[in-house]
Amino acid sequence: MAKVLVGKRSDIQEGEFTNVIVGGRQILIANIRGRYFATGNICTHEGAELHEGELHDKELTCPLHGAKWDLSTGQLNSFHEFLESIGSYRILIEDDTLFVEI
Ligand code: FES
Repeated sequence: MAKVLVGKRSDIQEGEFTNVIVGGRQILIANIRGRYFATGNICTHEGAELHEGELHDKELTCPLHGAKWDLSTGQLNSFHEFLESIGSYRILIEDDTLFVEI
């Protein structure tokens, strides 16, 4: 596992999420009521970028066909067919700095 700097906590306000490129992977980082989550940013259905979707609490909706993903696990919450996980990553916080383990 590598610990990779992704930015400052203050870069992502509560309720916001963003896409970062870490080690060649697109990772979505979200701040939900002060807790940070990291998942893959690419929908495993047809490859939409999930940071262009909508976030409600810890559920992220894909902008293309509406698959709903659990931000805390990277698992599918609902869709009309089974989809592989988008993956999730551990976030580490040191002072105001966010790192992700990949
Ligand atoms: S690309 Fe995400 S649901 Fe189809």
